[in-house]
Amino acid sequence: FGQNTATLTVPAKPDRTISRQIYGHFAEHLGRCIYGGFYVGENNTKIPNTAGIRHDVVDALKKLKVPNLRWPGGCFADTYHWKDGIGPKDQRPTIVNTWWGGVTENNSFGTHDFLNMCELIGAEPYLAGNMATGGVQELADWVQYTNFAGVSPMSKLRRENGRDKPWNVKYWGIGNEAWGCGGNMTAEYYANEYRKYATFVSDWTNTGGIFRIASGANSADYNWTETLMKNVPKNLIEGVALHHYAVIDWNKKGPSTTFTEQGYFATMKSALRMEELVQKHSAIMDKYDPEKKVALVVDEWGGWYEVEPGTNPGFLYQQNTMRDAMIAGSTLNIFNNHSDRVRMANLAQAINVLQAVILTDEEKMILTPTYHVMEMYNVHQDASYLPLTVKSADYTLGNEKLTAVNGSASRDKNGVTHVSLVNIDPKKKQEITITIDGANYKSVSGRILASKNLQDHNSFEKPNQITPAAFKGAKLKGNSLKVELPPFSVVVLEMK
Ligand code: AHR
Repeated sequence: FGQNTATLTVPAKPDRTISRQIYGHFAEHLGRCIYGGFYVGENNTKIPNTAGIRHDVVDALKKLKVPNLRWPGGCFADTYHWKDGIGPKDQRPTIVNTWWGGVTENNSFGTHDFLNMCELIGAEPYLAGNMATGGVQELADWVQYTNFAGVSPMSKLRRENGRDKPWNVKYWGIGNEAWGCGGNMTAEYYANEYRKYATFVSDWTNTGGIFRIASGANSADYNWTETLMKNVPKNLIEGVALHHYAVIDWNKKGPSTTFTEQGYFATMKSALRMEELVQKHSAIMDKYDPEKKVALVVDEWGGWYEVEPGTNPGFLYQQNTMRDAMIAGSTLNIFNNHSDRVRMANLAQAINVLQAVILTDEEKMILTPTYHVMEMYNVHQDASYLPLTVKSADYTLGNEKLTAVNGSASRDKNGVTHVSLVNIDPKKKQEITITIDGANYKSVSGRILASKNLQDHNSFEKPNQITPAAFKGAKLKGNSLKVELPPFSVVVLEMK
């Protein structure tokens, strides 16, 4: 039955869970992510909202079970002064968004708006602190403002602005892309700065809850991770970031919908490189932290293409096709399989920017193929990790080849096993036989995301062109599970 085989091992006591935080998202002040995406203003009578936050977006993100949301950047974070975004909205200063389109922003979406919105969505906030143009005091004040229940200058200010109880923000980023837009620092310089900042990002919640994330490497910059792990004491760091985008060529990124098979192949090659990156960064971390106390946090990942014709090049607005579904399904399988070290990740970005799960056009909203993959995969959140080793056939193009099939598996708290499989081959169906070791399942069912053409996508005219459907291509016989995966499809199986 085909050239693909796999073994699913079901230990009596799985040794780890897949952190739900792997399924996080990212919301930057960039293009129409915040303004027009999440937030349409309190006085908007056309688009239903609560305090300016779109109802349709909140409902969609709740269904996705978004575990955490990173804000306000990105590169924007290192230009952002949080005190500009609190207090009466008509008195807030404006700033120019120098990284993204040079637009003037009025700071009408600030700390209260973001943190209250996270409560509406049910997501934990992940605040990215300004290290490059802020200062230690500014960041320390932000922590005190958001997290301190007692009496202090910052908690007093928070109360004056209408919020009594602290939000208890656990996740704090210290700078962003410090090797680039966050200050063009060397790894050594950043490591020293990090130590200083992290000292003052302290646990004002007094619950042992603070989780500090160091600005991490750009793709294969292993020296960055090594320098951080070597020079930062373990009591100052809970996570090290990594950014990697699936991109064909930074100077020629190619279109988001009218790409060729060559373009698809090159994108997938870049996306699947995540496996090697995670392995190699983890190996360095293992050297300094064999107990795996520090998490690898892939807080920016996803496909990056040319913007849609006629849109602001600084707004990074792109469509989202079945190619993006392949990136999402494959990348999440990689994260699940490395969930011993990868314990948090953020897709870039949630709405209207890069590989978005949601696109909006005024009052219209659509869900992208990436949204559907993340929704299908949310069964893995906080489930026990089950090893799935796949021996896959190749997807070849010319002289080049990639692994056609990838997968991951977990068992949820009700004892239900889920196996997610991706066939990235755009021409051939792939059949796979999975041998089950350690469990006797009685039934299998599933869902599939597939389409006729790789370039297919949901549009405002046809919002439901691509949606998950029931999957009938899996047959269970004893300890053998046979699955027939159509070309470029994502399948999530459920076994009981
Ligand atoms: O996600 C867009 C940008 O990509 C972020 O602002 C930056 O961190 C990265 O270079």
